[in-house]
Amino acid sequence: MDLPPRPELFDFHGISMTHCFTDNWENIQNFQAKQDDILIATYPKAGTTWVSYMLDLLYFGQTFPERQISTSIYQTVPFLEINFDTLDLKTEVFLPLVSTRNTSVCEHISSNIVNYIKCFLLLQVVYVARNAKDNVVSFFHFDRMNKVVFGSWYDHVNGWWKKKQTHSKVHYMFYEDLIEDAGQELDKLCHFLDMSPSVETKTWILDRAQFHNMKNNTMVNHSVVPVMDFEISHFMRKGKVGDWKNHFTVAQNEMFDEDYKMKMTDSTLQFRTEI
Ligand code: A3P
Repeated sequence: MDLPPRPELFDFHGISMTHCFTDNWENIQNFQAKQDDILIATYPKAGTTWVSYMLDLLYFGQTFPERQISTSIYQTVPFLEINFDTLDLKTEVFLPLVSTRNTSVCEHISSNIVNYIKCFLLLQVVYVARNAKDNVVSFFHFDRMNKVVFGSWYDHVNGWWKKKQTHSKVHYMFYEDLIEDAGQELDKLCHFLDMSPSVETKTWILDRAQFHNMKNNTMVNHSVVPVMDFEISHFMRKGKVGDWKNHFTVAQNEMFDEDYKMKMTDSTLQFRTEI
């Protein structure tokens, strides 16, 4: 499959980025959020699609069921910062969409850059973090079939963790908790968003958002995204905690732990690398 060439990296406010995520910056800065808009913030491969889909089902699953079979997740829950010519995905294209209330937008940009968005304080933020070892393995496979970059995982997870301490409108989630008990995490998410869906609705959402159901759903498995080569790897790859053990050698794991300890010295964040 012929993918577009990998775009060049450059420094953008201290983060290595490609023009695909910065060309549209003026629109992003001027993004007109409303009070019940939700920003889903994640480091790539931490569970963005999973939580985006749960939120989309929560808000629109019952009222607009046709949306679930006709529109891909990258359009229903658009990336705020993305600007791919090949996808015709530009923030201005999404503005009419996001102006319907309670629509979520997602982004991978780090917490220091998000300060540049004028409306940031208006937004409710759902942050999803994943342990570094599984995150890097998932990213490794993703990077083989797609063309993205997003700066330091450490800055991302810690930056948003700090933001959570000062902004009551930031809900911080962990991929490992979702794997362990998605029902409980959905309840917490609903509580944060001040929503009380019926037990039936929650059961329905949890069923639709199960790994194998999402993997077989072309609207959310990204198989229609023309910048990804599924012959190399799948977007919905394994969906597990602890896959890093199949990739790290003992020596690599020791090196990783040493470096991790150093970089996380000042952080109170705790991740689980197995459950
Ligand atoms: P793996 O590559 O480890 O399988 P993102 O959406 O942020 O790019 O994250 C993608 C990762 O989340 C992939 O991890 C994908 O399989 C996993 N994922 C997506 N939906 C999931 C689900 N319902 N259950 C478990 N993992 C899921």
